[in-house]
Formats: sequence, C-alpha cells, structure tokens
Amino acid sequence: MDDNVSSSSGSLGDLPPREMRSSLHRIVDWASDYRETIERRPIGPAVQPGEIAAHCPADAPDEPESLDAILADIDSVVMPGIVHWGHPAFLGYFGSTSNGPALLGEIVAAALNVSAMTWRTSPAATELEGVVLEWIRRMIGLSDAFMGVVYDTASVAVFHALAAARERCAPMIRERGIAGRTDVPVCRVYASDQAHSSIEKAMIALGLGETNVVRIPSDSVFRLDVAALRAAIEADVQSGFRPMAVIATVGTTSTTSVDPVAEIWPVCREHNAWLHVDAAYGGALGILPEGRWALDGVDRADSVVVNPHKWMFVPLDFSALYTRHPAALRAVFSLTPDYLRGDAAVGQVDYMDYGLPLGRRFRALKAWMVFRAFGRAGIAGRIREHCRLAQLWASWADADPMFERAAPVPMAVVCFRCVRHGIDDDECDRLNAAIVRAVNASGEAYLTHTTLRGRTVMRVGIGNVLTTSEHLERAWECVRREAQRHIPNAMDPSAGSVRDIG
Ligand SMILES: Cc1ncc(COP(=O)(O)O)c(C=O)c1O
Repeated sequence: MDDNVSSSSGSLGDLPPREMRSSLHRIVDWASDYRETIERRPIGPAVQPGEIAAHCPADAPDEPESLDAILADIDSVVMPGIVHWGHPAFLGYFGSTSNGPALLGEIVAAALNVSAMTWRTSPAATELEGVVLEWIRRMIGLSDAFMGVVYDTASVAVFHALAAARERCAPMIRERGIAGRTDVPVCRVYASDQAHSSIEKAMIALGLGETNVVRIPSDSVFRLDVAALRAAIEADVQSGFRPMAVIATVGTTSTTSVDPVAEIWPVCREHNAWLHVDAAYGGALGILPEGRWALDGVDRADSVVVNPHKWMFVPLDFSALYTRHPAALRAVFSLTPDYLRGDAAVGQVDYMDYGLPLGRRFRALKAWMVFRAFGRAGIAGRIREHCRLAQLWASWADADPMFERAAPVPMAVVCFRCVRHGIDDDECDRLNAAIVRAVNASGEAYLTHTTLRGRTVMRVGIGNVLTTSEHLERAWECVRREAQRHIPNAMDPSAGSVRDIG
C-alpha cells in the first residue's frame, strides 16, 4: 500500500469514535467473561516453546487488518499460551492478581496515556502519585520522614537506592564515572543468602560488579545472621573494601522470612553504610496491626521498597521506593533535557528527577482506584485471610506423613517437602520437582519449587483475591494425588520420614 493514502476507513487503522465505542464494549465483555470463567480454565498452558510465535507472520502486516481478525487471534493464538495468574488455584511465586477496580483503572489510564515526567506534563498523574504513595506509607505505618517514588518493579527500585548509596560512598561518580579512577574504593553490598537476585543485577548495572555482593549466611529460620554480617564487614574493611550498603529483607522470596532490621541498623550506622529494606512482598503485612512486627526497625532505613503489585492487589506493575534522602536520588538522576527546561512548577515534584525513566505511566490511577474500592479494611481483610489460608495449608502438610514443612510460615507462603524413607536426598529432590511439574501439568493447580539449604522443596504462595479454602483443599488433594503417583507405596504412612532440611 502507498504509505500516503488512507485506508478504506480513512483512519489508517485507528478506530473512528463509533467503532471504538462498540469495540471497547466487546473487550469489556471479553474481560468480564474471562474473569467470570477463569476458574474453569486449565491454569498452565499446554504449548511448546515457539508455538505462539509460529502462528504470527515474520513481518508486521502491510495493510490495516480488521479488528475482528485481530480479536479472533487473541482467542486462537494468544489465549492458548496464557498462564492464568489470576486463577484462584494459581499458587506460584508471589501472586499478582487483577481485579475489577484495577482493570477499570488500567482502561482509563490507557485512554489518557499521559506521561508523568514533570508536574506540568501531567499535574493529575503527578499529584495522584504523591497521594497514593502517602496512602501506602501511612497504611503500613512508615514514618513521614520518607518520600516515595513509583517505579515499575522492586528490581528497578533497588537499582535506584544503590545508585544513591554509591554516590554517598564514592562521590563524583555521576560526573566522572568509575573507570580509571584510583580514588574510588571497591564498594561492597551485603545481603543474606535468601535475598533477591535483583541486588546482583543492580550492582552489575551500576558498574560495581556482581562479586561485590557479599552473601551473608542466614540462621535456622532463614533470617540474616547479624553476627556474620558484622564479621564480614569488619573483615572487608580490614582488606580495604568500602561497605556501601546492607540490604535487609522483610519477606524473603523463598520463605518470607524477616531479617532483624532493628539489629542490622546499628551495624550500618557504625560503618556509614546505606540500609535498604526490601519489603517488596512483606511490607504489606504492616497494614495489619498484628503484622507490624515485620517492620520493626524499618523506620531507621535509608530506603525501603514495597511492591503493591505483590500483595496489595494493585496489578503489575507498581513498586514504591521510599527514602529519607530524596535529595540523594535527585543528585544522581536529575538531568533536564532542553525541551523540558522551564517546565519546573514551583513547589511541585517532577518525578523524572528521581530516576532513570523519563516517560512514566500513570500507574497511580489503578492503585488509587483499588485502594478506594477496597478500602484499607478490604485490603487488610484479604491479607489476613491469606495468612489464615497459609496456616491451613501448613497444618495439612504438618499432619500428613507424606510431607514435612521446610520453613516457618510468617506470611502467606508455605514451603514443604514430600519425604520418603529409603531414598537419598538427591532422589528426594527429583521427586519434589516431579510432583510440582505434574501438578502444574494437571491444570488444576499451579505451584513452584525452591531450594532451601541445597534441597528442593515445594512452595505455595497465596495472594489472589479469589482464593478460598475450597480452592486450597482441591489444590492440596491434587498435590497428594501426584505425590502418591510418584512414590511407590505412598499410602503406607510408616514409610514417611522426617528429614532435617532447615
Ligand atoms: C523479596 C523480593 N524482592 C524483590 C523482588 C523483585 O521484584 P520485581 O519483580 O518487582 O522486580 C522479588 C520478586 O519476587 C522478591 O521476592
């Protein structure tokens, strides 16, 4: 087609208003049907790698295609390759589920498509971002010494926190970089052996090196061992390294263990190291009065990340970084391109000054809608129920001789292991991995496995707004059935054995 002539509709593919309205109605119906029928779908897809792409042409179409054809392909090409994260028996990772208010918020945000780089480019997106950041901060009980910024993910948030810490540790890196400098020490970061791999990624991106993340052993319940931290830092200082930051985790990825932040902080203060708290998952527990213990000492931190897209029912993506030192973030990232000069509005925040991205989605809108529609009580009630459900699952694992629990359950994640007398640990690892694969292949439930102290364990994470105890009962039956299929004589309870994998 000649690029200069219009398509038959005269819109070069965009939808004229009337067609747009009816198409939007169709999609709204489609999304509502999806939510209504999600439970009847097999959770994991039965596709082979490459199968979805094989249904798509190598080049984008030359000519505008009809919306009917495109929507038909959502059902025939896209849907067969979907893992239904929103299914109530999806128990993998940390659940991130959509919900009615969030979906509506995403539609409005997409219609507006504003960019919250400066206050002037979007006053409403900027101010609503500040509002929801304050709501989250107050809900979880963080002091007003912290200022927040929204990023897409906790991985990006820790990158920003460590960029600020790097500037404090070795000044002028913003201007002069690191290469060829003899006045820049080797900066090190400390985190437990349970902390998330995003720390290494941040250190790679900051040019500080993956090997300068020092992994500190965790104790018997997977919390950072403070004496080991102190010893590692002291040894490093003796060897000429500079302790740049310590990362404490509130809700580790595998077991949701909580590092003793209040005890870690004095070590940081002694060595002038930045304390970043990764509360990406566990920060949400602070909404519950009975969950505040998890944030003990967090107010002392230099920065804290909380991911409402993990356990506060805001769908991907929405990650909130709080820092006591917003000026330090600005000092690293504030850089105004010519075409935005003069845009600054007196007394207003321009969020582009606090991070790498210039264009910024109106993420605050969906959070604002979820928080208003659920209310604090609705969020807290769900979190409390998820914790109850996790205890229920843990009680089943404890009571069944085929299984043993692999870690305490402080939040809504349970790690457990199928055990069998007479097989060695490696065989037992393969058995547990095989059970997870079989459960996921069944389509009835979806879980993941993780490694604790070198051994493979099964892991369920409960975080979906739709999950009830009935869903968990069926998922548990599925796990038991697959375990029985994979181990001979599994019904003989005397054959079960308890192993120490903690
Ligand atoms: C404790 C913890 N921190 C950070 C992350 C990274 O989160 P994101 O996917 O938002 O980058 C995860 C991911 O699950 C996590 O479990």
